[in-house]
Amino acid sequence: MTGEKQALESLPGVGEATAGKLREAGYTTIESLATATIGELCEAIEIGEAQAKKIIAAARKVAEIGEFVTADKVLERRKTVGWITTGSKQLDTLLGGGVETRAVTEAFGEFGSGKSQIGHQLCINVQLPPEEGGLGAKAVFIDTENTFRPERVLQMATGAGIDPNEALKNILVARSYNTDQQLLIAEKAEDIIEREGVRLLVIDSLTSHFRAEYTGRGTLAERQQKLARHLLTLHRIADLKDVAIFATNQVQARPDMFFGDPTRPIGGHILGHSATTRIYLRKSKGGRRIARIVDSPNLPEGESVFMITEGGIRD
Ligand code: GTP
Ligand code: MG
Repeated sequence: MTGEKQALESLPGVGEATAGKLREAGYTTIESLATATIGELCEAIEIGEAQAKKIIAAARKVAEIGEFVTADKVLERRKTVGWITTGSKQLDTLLGGGVETRAVTEAFGEFGSGKSQIGHQLCINVQLPPEEGGLGAKAVFIDTENTFRPERVLQMATGAGIDPNEALKNILVARSYNTDQQLLIAEKAEDIIEREGVRLLVIDSLTSHFRAEYTGRGTLAERQQKLARHLLTLHRIADLKDVAIFATNQVQARPDMFFGDPTRPIGGHILGHSATTRIYLRKSKGGRRIARIVDSPNLPEGESVFMITEGGIRD
């Protein structure tokens, strides 16, 4: 469909040496070049403005960014959307039926609010047959914080009534240790998703490496650009492969540093505008968790309560 699988060398003005430099700088796909800025590219691979401009223009043409489709086609595509149950009816209702495919759902909240637990639960629930709220499909889990716990998956599988050992085999886990790896794994996941019949991609956490690597004000623009590129990949996977993306994001550790909303998620505006559905999670009395929908394009704002039990997420 689009040119994402095409080699960088196929672009006019990109020879082998330039392509090598581009890849080294993190521009591994034509899409990543299509969304780059001239200044950013000049700096990254030390070329002149004219050449950078030419490369970006060529990449945009190949990537078909800015192509319009008629609304009936958009509607046609939305009909194939699937939902994965969270395990809590109330939370599903809040989300309009569960976690949606062809969309990025971002869960943000403080430590222990249940972000990773929901991620684990979805890896189980996606495997359920459609009549039980699943999609009869596999999951990919990108683990950036070493939070993936197979033991917990076993418990949740038992809770959901599926064979625990089979359940483990249907979850493909990749660890990433820095932002570069995280971007690369997301791009690689595209192939696996197609081959293995994956309908869910969990990324836990989306932002921790970005926060660790880019500290201080001077690096903010760079961080946001890289995060934007990463999100573009995730949205493309969601859209082209009919996959649900569930990404977690911790809230700022020092809310007192910001005026306004103390629950501001890491990632700021780019993330806020790209995620399709954002849920804010918080702890409540008696082990309860409260989920709230924040600026969703098609869901009403509201709250629901759920519990984290031995068997998994429940009402
Ligand atoms: P950070 O990653 O630290 O930002 O937090 P998080 O939002 O990912 O929190 P997580 O999803 O890891 O939730 C942890 C909480 O889930 C714990 O504090 C427990 O309350 C609950 N929990 C985890 N495992 C179990 C379990 O086996 N049984 C029960 N009943 N609760 C559990
Ligand atoms: Mg977590």
